[in-house]
Amino acid sequence: MLPCCAVRTCHVLVLVLCLSAAEDFDWTKNDRGSFYYGTFPAGFSWGAGSSAYQTEGAWDQDGKGLSIWDVFSHRKGKILQNDTGDSSCQGYYKIKEDISLMKELKLDHYRFSISWPRIMPTGIKSDHVNEKGIKYYDELIDNLLENKITPIATLYHWDLPQVLQEKYGGWQNISMVNYFNEFANLCFERFGNRVKYWITLNNPWSVAVEGYETGEHAPGLKLRGTGAYRAAHHMIKAHAKVWHTYDTKWRGKQKGLVGISLSGDWGEPVDISNQKDIEAAERYVQFYIGWFATPIFHGDYPQVMKDFIGRKSAQQGLGTSRLPTFSSQEKSYVKGTCDFLGIGHFTTRYITQKNYQSGHGSSSYFTDRDLAELVDPRWPDPGSEWLYSVPWGFRRLLNFAQYRNPMIYVTENGVSEKIMCTELCDDWRIQYYKDYTNEMLKAIKDGVNVRGYTAWSLLDKFEWDEGYSERFGLYYVDFRNKNKPRYPKASVQYYKRIISSNGFPNQREVENWKRKATETCSSSNQLLAADPLTSHMEMVTEVVVPTVCTLCILLSAVFLMFLLRRHN
Ligand code: NOJ
Repeated sequence: MLPCCAVRTCHVLVLVLCLSAAEDFDWTKNDRGSFYYGTFPAGFSWGAGSSAYQTEGAWDQDGKGLSIWDVFSHRKGKILQNDTGDSSCQGYYKIKEDISLMKELKLDHYRFSISWPRIMPTGIKSDHVNEKGIKYYDELIDNLLENKITPIATLYHWDLPQVLQEKYGGWQNISMVNYFNEFANLCFERFGNRVKYWITLNNPWSVAVEGYETGEHAPGLKLRGTGAYRAAHHMIKAHAKVWHTYDTKWRGKQKGLVGISLSGDWGEPVDISNQKDIEAAERYVQFYIGWFATPIFHGDYPQVMKDFIGRKSAQQGLGTSRLPTFSSQEKSYVKGTCDFLGIGHFTTRYITQKNYQSGHGSSSYFTDRDLAELVDPRWPDPGSEWLYSVPWGFRRLLNFAQYRNPMIYVTENGVSEKIMCTELCDDWRIQYYKDYTNEMLKAIKDGVNVRGYTAWSLLDKFEWDEGYSERFGLYYVDFRNKNKPRYPKASVQYYKRIISSNGFPNQREVENWKRKATETCSSSNQLLAADPLTSHMEMVTEVVVPTVCTLCILLSAVFLMFLLRRHN
């Protein structure tokens, strides 16, 4: 295995952990003996996911308008190695090929997103609807259904039309609520006869915090202390409006469901005997998924957010809280607008109480929470710097997400590896999927109503500000080759077995799976190693052969003319 794939010990840890305390909590603690053999409820849906900007490519083709990610990624210095999603996996041209990969996995569903500027180039319906963009999604949906794969469509996976950013300031502006609703309505109208699962927004936390607070993501604004709260407020209203539109206009005939996908880490108190740490960990999760889930299920922001942000705003001498408020009418409009809850989850943090003084200009979403995040250096950390494998945190988060016992679909869960890692024998990913899905099974036994699971992601793809340096795919994509060929990693074989057994039938069988999966991956590795040769052969067939043929034809013609002249 290459060094980059080795399980690295953590280098981010800043404080010393109270591990003695951590050993005490046994409720969902992961230890070797705690693997649970059993199967998922009948009808449980297994899937894999992607998003438009991360995989489609074809950024300026067939009438597509610009999104904020097209513009952001073209600005120098915003993305690692100045990568862009311009061509990405070329998924736009590979519907059939990618569906055959899904069939190989025996997926029940596929989660993808619809690029708003691909079907409404400026984001505004009255400007223009791009039929070529609609045709692409029509084909994708039809092909999925022909292959008995249920489409789960996300309406917003971060690619806001650039025109809406330039004209109105994007999610800082309340007008997004109506524009997004018009876009969603068009999607219901054109695709809703076939799509029955809709996700309004993907991970609005990231849009708000990374797009408008830290500026690491498009549109790259750094409106510390206010930007994220404002963006989130408008997104919550936009989500609610779209749910109401579906409920009143389309649900009767289309009989589908509309949910939202919220991402969140689990936060575990560093010292479980310390009340301050317990409260800090609770705040961590409330400021993550609670920020969105509490208004959507209960009508208002979590009390702890109102208290902390309100108090800190007052200390800064502000007349009102930086956290916007919902009127009582808005509260009842927003409350209950979720037919299912999508959960995206990757990792966990230990949390301890830490006070931040609020002064002029120094406040931010992060200091508002009064906490510090820590990690255990023994947690496996194979890829993204932030992603530690902590399976038991998943079970705890699922148990936490019991807002009126919603139907839950896990919309994202997976692990990455670093770019140089051309290793297809991804046994650490196998371990991650095995342990995380097992914790999900335990959560179901706890009584959590989880109905489906989406492995993130089907393919390696553009990983936002990290460019192509982090690979989340079950399938390896060779981005150096313009055809972007896909190769199965060993985890494909493993995930396929979880799917066909609908869980983990018994120890003997499950122990064999890993061996079998890693047996086949060495031959795939050879394929990948042969790739430069394949690209060379493509060059030969696409460039050299036609050129030589044309020259031969020309020379023969000249020679023939010469002979004819001599003959005359
Ligand atoms: C959540 C985002 O929704 C997704 O697009 C991204 O690939 C994963 N996090 C991993 O970073």
